[in-house]
Amino acid sequence: MKKDFWLERWDRGEIGFHQDEVNPYLIQYWQELHLAQDSLVFVPLCGKSRDMLWLRKQGHRVLGVELSSIAAQAFFKEDGYVPQHHSKGKFQSCEANGIRILCGDFFDLSKESLENVGAVYDRASLIALPPDMRESYARHLADILPPGTQILLVTVDYPQAEMQGPPFSVTSSEVELLYREFAEVRLLAQLDVLAKNPRFRERGLNRLQESIFLLKLH
Ligand SMILES: C[S@@+](CC[C@H](N)C(=O)[O-])C[C@H]1O[C@@H](n2cnc3c(N)ncnc32)[C@H](O)[C@@H]1O
Repeated sequence: MKKDFWLERWDRGEIGFHQDEVNPYLIQYWQELHLAQDSLVFVPLCGKSRDMLWLRKQGHRVLGVELSSIAAQAFFKEDGYVPQHHSKGKFQSCEANGIRILCGDFFDLSKESLENVGAVYDRASLIALPPDMRESYARHLADILPPGTQILLVTVDYPQAEMQGPPFSVTSSEVELLYREFAEVRLLAQLDVLAKNPRFRERGLNRLQESIFLLKLH
């Protein structure tokens, strides 16, 4: 998936993936991580997700990475913050209220940028990527995170032939396959959610499930 695809979507305001409410699975399952309050939480492909505000309210510091500077600016503006801007290597960073968003490409992140991360929250990141990129994503994520990092991962699974992604369908067995070399993978829950998502029924889906995983890197 080309970077321009996402940059143009932000440009045109085509951001159906954005949720105005905090993700209910984050609220329900975050406690499974037993994470120290002052830990740094990494949110890959973060968009302008309000989930970052919820994580901050739990006492965590938050580090996001996002291609689109429109998304980063909107995130702070919508919450009334004027962020400080810095530039570091290939990234421009915006920071306010204990939340830093690095504007740039996830695949350009290095170990050094994530050395203090204690946990990861991945909603709609893995499923934003086509199959060939998912393998590189999982490998790169595991490579740049400190050993022992926990990842709360939310994915969707549907018959891929019924709809074109993104979001792409990612099955439980694919998650296991992608991460088993790097992490212990635990499925926390799997729910049928088609009835709650009429827009996906309209796009032709006959089944839609959301799955929540807890991963712990070796
Ligand atoms: C489906 S959206 C999900 C956003 C967010 N996680 C949420 O829950 O609202 C995927 C986001 O990833 C960003 N993105 C895609 N490829 C990226 C990359 N290689 N590096 C950084 N961000 C990327 C897009 O601009 C888009 O905002």
